[in-house]
Amino acid sequence: MPLYHTLKALNSARSSYKGNALGVVPTMGALHQGHLSLIAKATRESEVVWVTIFVNPTQFDKKDDLDKYPESLVADVAAIYEIGADIHIFAPTATEMYPEGLATRAQTLDGLDNLMEGADRPGHFDGVITIVAKLFKALQPHQAYFGEKDFQQLQVIKKWATEQHIPTNIVPCPIVRETNGLAMSSRNAQLSPKQRDEAGFIYKAMLHCKNNCLDKAAVYTAIKESLEAHPNFDLLYVLCVEEDSLKEVQELATANKPRLFVAASIAGVRLIDNIALK
Ligand code: PAF
Repeated sequence: MPLYHTLKALNSARSSYKGNALGVVPTMGALHQGHLSLIAKATRESEVVWVTIFVNPTQFDKKDDLDKYPESLVADVAAIYEIGADIHIFAPTATEMYPEGLATRAQTLDGLDNLMEGADRPGHFDGVITIVAKLFKALQPHQAYFGEKDFQQLQVIKKWATEQHIPTNIVPCPIVRETNGLAMSSRNAQLSPKQRDEAGFIYKAMLHCKNNCLDKAAVYTAIKESLEAHPNFDLLYVLCVEEDSLKEVQELATANKPRLFVAASIAGVRLIDNIALK
C-alpha cells in the first residue's frame, strides 16, 4: 500500500499522475465509518485517491485536547486497504508540515469563523485552513471530501476556496451516525461505552426540535431542557443559523435553509452535531 511520510515522497508520487480526477480525503486519523464513507465516495468519483492522516496541532487551542486526541495509524491503514489497496496515504509528522514552527495565517472568512466552534476554540479555523492549504498545495486535488458533521468547517473551507480561487471542488458528505443516533466522530473513542450509549439523546433531542418546534426559542428551550435531564453533559452552545451565511435565523418559518447546531461536553469530550431543520 502506498504510504508516505514526507512531502518529498508525496511530490514524487503526485508528479506521476497527470489526470484530472484526483480526490483527497483530509483526516486526522482514528478513522471511523464516517471517514470510510468519504473515502469510498472518493474512490467512486476519482481515478486516484489520497487520504491524509495528520493530527494538526495548530487547530487545537488546548494542549491537553491535542494530547488526548486518539491515534491509530496501523488500524487506519488497514481500514483504508480494505476499501482500495491502491489508495495513497500521506501521514506526515508535525515537523514535516510545520518546519518553521506552528505558525498559522489569520484568515478573513466573512464572520463564518466567529461563532460556535470559532468562538469556543480561538484560532481553530486559522489552523484548519493553514493545514488544508498546505495539503492542497502539495496534492493539487481536483476534489476534496469533507463530512457535514463539521458543517461549520465545511462552510469555512468553501468560503476560503472561493475567495482564494482554489481550483478544487469541495464535496460535502452526509453525517454517518451510530445506531443510537450519535454522530460518528474520532472523539467518540474517548467516551466510556455507557457515555457513548447515553450520548444518543443529543440527536434525538435535535430530531424532536426538527419535528415539533415552530420557532427558535422553542428549539433552544427544548435542547436546554434535554441537556438538563442528563447532568453529566454540559451544553456548550445551541444555535439555529442559515446554513450558507451561518447567521442566526430570525424567524424559523421564513429562514433560508435553517440548520440547528449543538455542542455539548461530557467528561471533557467535546461532541458536536447539526441537523437541517427544513
Ligand atoms: O476534519 C478534520 O479532520 C480536520 O479538521 C482536517 C480537515 C483534516 C484538517 O486538519
